[in-house]
Amino acid sequence: MKIRDMTFKEGQELKIRVKPKDGCSCFSINIGHNAENIAMHFNPRFDYGGDNNTIVFNTLSGGCWGEELRESNFPFQQGEECKFHITFNNEQFYIRLPDGSMINFPNRLGDVKYQHFDVSGDARIIGIKVK
Ligand code: GAL
Repeated sequence: MKIRDMTFKEGQELKIRVKPKDGCSCFSINIGHNAENIAMHFNPRFDYGGDNNTIVFNTLSGGCWGEELRESNFPFQQGEECKFHITFNNEQFYIRLPDGSMINFPNRLGDVKYQHFDVSGDARIIGIKVK
């Protein structure tokens, strides 16, 4: 599901609540410029592509994936609503996970304004806002 008419700038905070479906294999939150240029692909995998309970991060630049980063802290459950707070600058994204812990992912596209957002996979958006 693509979110329209939203702009996310350096210094702002994006709050998003999503509910992974029962039996969810994975979902992703994508922030970038368009479907081929995604600065942050945040992809919790319950059971997908050989990964179990692992968060995979990556960048899609000109339609090509970069190097994946993996995080083993996995504070999510299928069927349970979870929330994330995301901020960024030209160097890093800072993600607060539902358990309050923080993870960073490099802002490899290096921009300070993004207007493309989507949540894909087996989850639905409960709420999203930027402040
Ligand atoms: C692929 C997967 C994509 C994306 C990418 C991240 O294997 O099909 O959806 O998650 O990994 O590197």
